[in-house]
Amino acid sequence: MRTQYLPSGVANSFAGKRDEREARRGRRSDGARALLEGFPVSPVNTHMHADHITGTGRLKGLLPGCKSVISRSSGAKADVLLEPNDQVQFGRHQLRVLPTPGHTEGCVTYVCDEQAIAFTGDALLIRGCGRTDFQGGSATILYKSVHEKIFTLPRNYRLYPAHDYNGRTVTTVAEEEALNPRLSKSLEEFVRIMNNLNLPYPKMIDKAVPANKVCGLYEVEEEKGEQ
Ligand SMILES: [Fe+2]
Repeated sequence: MRTQYLPSGVANSFAGKRDEREARRGRRSDGARALLEGFPVSPVNTHMHADHITGTGRLKGLLPGCKSVISRSSGAKADVLLEPNDQVQFGRHQLRVLPTPGHTEGCVTYVCDEQAIAFTGDALLIRGCGRTDFQGGSATILYKSVHEKIFTLPRNYRLYPAHDYNGRTVTTVAEEEALNPRLSKSLEEFVRIMNNLNLPYPKMIDKAVPANKVCGLYEVEEEKGEQ
């Protein structure tokens, strides 16, 4: 099951026009860097997916003004390209951008300290993690990301991953540190486990990666052309 979250509370933002112009150009600016003011829905991606096409392009087609958001290190095009430690502002809340590469080079985790929650994408799943054998993935880097960036968050923080195939939706830092069958092991054991997964090549990868490089707009263009 692939999960998308809809954080609510988009009402006001402290970002100014200069920041907005800078963000449109994909440049870093002072203060809030991902500017969602006035945009009712802004899909914020954790990484460039290989297994499915992001819904971002479709949302942009349906909702004029909707902005696509992803990390600059993902290599994808988007309206807003995030840098490490940028803050994505929505309403009175903020998501802090925490780089957690390893599943892909450009993976990030979004942390909302005020609510003690984090969205981990495919870096850390409930009792699992994303594969590390394509898109610049690295088991060693993923282990470091999880142990140094996610497991160092307060132990009570709730973690919302991008996938779960058993209907679970949430875990915590403490739970995964203790119970994750891969990431509770040593680095050497983790690398051995990841190198021996023998997973098939993702069915969608040849279609999904080119489409996701433009945040799903590829698919929208194709559909327009067919009409
Ligand atoms: Fe992924």
